[in-house]
Amino acid sequence: MKYLVIGGTGRTGRYAVTELRGLGHEVLVGTRRPRDDQSVAVDLAAPLDARLLTGIDGVIVTVEPPLDDKGADTVMHSGVARLAELAAAQHIPVVLISQIYITRAAEHPDLAGIIHARAAGEQALRTSGAPYTIIRPSWLTNSPATGAHLEQGDRGDGQVSRELVARAAVAALLHPESHSKTFELYDGPTPPDWPAAFTALTAD
Ligand SMILES: NC(=O)c1ccc[n+]([C@@H]2O[C@H](COP(=O)([O-])OP(=O)(O)OC[C@H]3O[C@@H](n4cnc5c(N)ncnc54)[C@H](OP(=O)(O)O)[C@@H]3O)[C@@H](O)[C@H]2O)c1
Repeated sequence: MKYLVIGGTGRTGRYAVTELRGLGHEVLVGTRRPRDDQSVAVDLAAPLDARLLTGIDGVIVTVEPPLDDKGADTVMHSGVARLAELAAAQHIPVVLISQIYITRAAEHPDLAGIIHARAAGEQALRTSGAPYTIIRPSWLTNSPATGAHLEQGDRGDGQVSRELVARAAVAALLHPESHSKTFELYDGPTPPDWPAAFTALTAD
């Protein structure tokens, strides 16, 4: 299978690329500055090449938004919506890395613009018709992945390892039990049985 990781040069994205390649899959790294034939130009702030997803079996989006409200909306809302439209047309699954506090922007006024943009991007993906999973990591750390704790309802706070987020994204890409589901992700005590954990979630 061949997967596209948009943000595959980033700290979380790199783990996802390594894990997918370790499982024997072909991976294209989506980046604004492609360097080799294993990377492809993708800028979610700009129009996307209509052929971007040709031959691609699934996409992970793990992109850091600009800090200003307009820039965040351009990337995390309009850009994600454009990608979702392309994916829907070809029925390609998309795993979107979002964040906690999506429904509680008032508690983080400093991040409100980013949160509103992400919320709109999440919704654009849900309504696009593309198969999707939305992962809302808590605050990211560079600690090694241990166990995982999944929640729904966006009520919690805590931390999660970037490596674990990448593992969850790869598992979501490979297991359709995750489709049409949105969940928060925290470090937890037990290594997850991902298909069982996804099956236990409520669909959107
Ligand atoms: N920091 C936190 O505590 C926290 C909490 C929850 C969720 N998150 C989210 O978790 C995800 C992973 O975070 P991270 O810290 O691992 O990311 P990171 O290391 O900052 O990497 C960000 C990636 O975003 C890509 N990117 C930026 N603008 C882009 C654009 N316009 N089009 C395409 N790609 C673009 C960059 O790729 P190029 O530069 O190569 O183009 C880079 O690979 C992000 O969505 C982040 O916002 C973070």
